[in-house]
Amino acid sequence: MSQFDFNKEVNRRNTSSLKWDVAENELPMWVADMDFAIAPAIENSIKKRLDEAVFGYSIVPDEWYDSYINWWNTRHNFKIEKDWLIFSTGVVPSISSIVRKITTPGEKVLVQTPCYNIFFNSIVNNGRFISEAPLTYQNGQYSIDWEDLEAKLSDPQTSLFILCNPHNPVGKIWDLETLQRIGELCLKYNVTVLSDEIHCDITLPNTSYIPFAKASETCKKISITCIAASKAFNIAGFQSSAVFIADPFLRHKVNRGLNTDEVAEPNAFAICTTIAAFNESADWLDALREHLANNRKQAQEFIVNNNLPLKLVNAEATYLLWIDCSAFTDNTNMFCNFLRKKTGLYISKGASYGACGKTFIRVNIACTEKTLKDGLERLKTGVKQFIAQHPKL
Ligand SMILES: Cc1ncc(COP(=O)(O)O)c(C=O)c1O
Repeated sequence: MSQFDFNKEVNRRNTSSLKWDVAENELPMWVADMDFAIAPAIENSIKKRLDEAVFGYSIVPDEWYDSYINWWNTRHNFKIEKDWLIFSTGVVPSISSIVRKITTPGEKVLVQTPCYNIFFNSIVNNGRFISEAPLTYQNGQYSIDWEDLEAKLSDPQTSLFILCNPHNPVGKIWDLETLQRIGELCLKYNVTVLSDEIHCDITLPNTSYIPFAKASETCKKISITCIAASKAFNIAGFQSSAVFIADPFLRHKVNRGLNTDEVAEPNAFAICTTIAAFNESADWLDALREHLANNRKQAQEFIVNNNLPLKLVNAEATYLLWIDCSAFTDNTNMFCNFLRKKTGLYISKGASYGACGKTFIRVNIACTEKTLKDGLERLKTGVKQFIAQHPKL
């Protein structure tokens, strides 16, 4: 039994939570934050900072750099140099800034769909075009259609590839060969790779990911990597992340972009929480991963035992279930609206992640067992009622 209790309920209603600001009867299992209290060391770091009582401007101290460097060294067996690292207020602010700095308006940014929906915003809101390279979905597994990917990369208008490593929402960890091949193709067509690795610490127990920059010298040279403690340690609200770039020319550009966009300065709690997470909360994270793996297993068993027409895509990372609903609907938009209205269960519509996601749903299982069971029961009720009212012809 772990010393950390991930089944302890924390009431998040009426706390201005994006996820939980819903009606009393509703159960939110959508946006990617977790229902768990933070690790004790992070809580202590906040209390300590609070005791200082003055909250003027902050700098980024050496301890912040060391915490990232040591974590990647020990956890991911990859050496990040201190001068590669830049503080930023979030992965999404970094992505938007990098899109603006590395590409010009009218150029194309490649993404592999289904993908994290906010990538689309960072591209389109900055006047760039989305180049979609859909992943192939076959026998319940996702893989890359290399011919299609190369065709899209070879378009001279394509200048940036946003890679999601591990991939949200499908939960895939890209293997070494895949990362190397992406690196070679991007080098060939002069496309910079932005590797979003925010989910890298939420992997199944005994499973690890490979940083894109570690895959080869080429990958290291042509890439910009976004990392953070926020997703794995549930501290997104402190708006703290890092970008690392090995290549000095690319780094200079990104650094200028982040600074002119004013997203390179920390708030009063951004530094201490990250340091406490990486330096002192590894045990908490490992216990969390066990809990999440157990939730995933329970969800899978529930689907099978209840004979539900849902296919859970095998995943090795993230706390998100990506579920194929094609057995009973061609479009989960309608199903998700129905589910929320009839059962109160609020999950994410697959089409948000690209058109190829339209027969899928995404369910956030970073919750207590009790909440998970409630959610699964609501899902079962909703699926049955939906099928009864909307038979697939
Ligand atoms: C792939 C991915 N990137 C970035 C983010 C958000 O990052 P941030 O909160 O640091 O802007 C998320 C949040 O779910 C995500 O899934």
